[in-house]
Amino acid sequence: MAKGTNLSERSRTLADDPFGGRQPTSHERMTRLPWDASYHDGPAPWDIGRPQPAIVRMASKGGFAGPVLDAGCGTGENALHVASLGFSVLGVDVAETALAIAQAKADSRGIKIEFALADAFQLERLVRRFQTVLDCGLFHTFNRDEGSRYAASLASVTKHNGTLYLLCFSGEGPDIGPHPISQEELRAAFSPSRGWKIAAIQPDRIQTRFHDNGAPAWFATVKRI
Ligand SMILES: C[S@@+](CC[C@H](N)C(=O)[O-])C[C@H]1O[C@@H](n2cnc3c(N)ncnc32)[C@H](O)[C@@H]1O
Repeated sequence: MAKGTNLSERSRTLADDPFGGRQPTSHERMTRLPWDASYHDGPAPWDIGRPQPAIVRMASKGGFAGPVLDAGCGTGENALHVASLGFSVLGVDVAETALAIAQAKADSRGIKIEFALADAFQLERLVRRFQTVLDCGLFHTFNRDEGSRYAASLASVTKHNGTLYLLCFSGEGPDIGPHPISQEELRAAFSPSRGWKIAAIQPDRIQTRFHDNGAPAWFATVKRI
């Protein structure tokens, strides 16, 4: 994992400001907890210990091209799956605990991959460009305003004609997950004015630790124009 400060300095900083100097997101304001706290007491509800089937399927169809960015990578299963296929992958998250778990998995599995602490609203700070971008469960944690800012931030690091794959909860069907997203919300955020064109939005499933057959989801394929 990329580190700018040593661990004791980092712990002091996090004790002073658990949000590490960034604006808490609407989700963090609602829960009154930083995202990092989700990873303190065992696996979070979305942390299923394997990649999402939708991502495995897209990868097996040859849908990925490197370099790849996984925005909000959590403990890294999706990013690690894509990296295990030989692509250059960077996974970013604001939760340092998740990144440490992801890096430990990479080390124990012998997978070459990068993980870094980065805010999805300020991806231009990476000063890098990606051919494929992955969002598994991040967009649906944002409110509308955040979704728009996030789409612009993602556009700043995605190569022209690059592809974003976005898996989010939908409100279609029984047993829906938290924060369901409508197709209209996806189209509003990933608009041509922000550099995006929706190529497809298909019904899919998101596996969680609490849904036997997954929760209803959208799998969106979005092109950078
Ligand atoms: C629902 S989890 C999904 C994690 C992972 N993609 C997966 O499928 O297991 C959302 C993730 O986004 C991260 N996150 C939330 N806000 C973020 C932000 N502004 N920048 C980067 N990561 C963020 C959280 O820390 C969390 O790990």
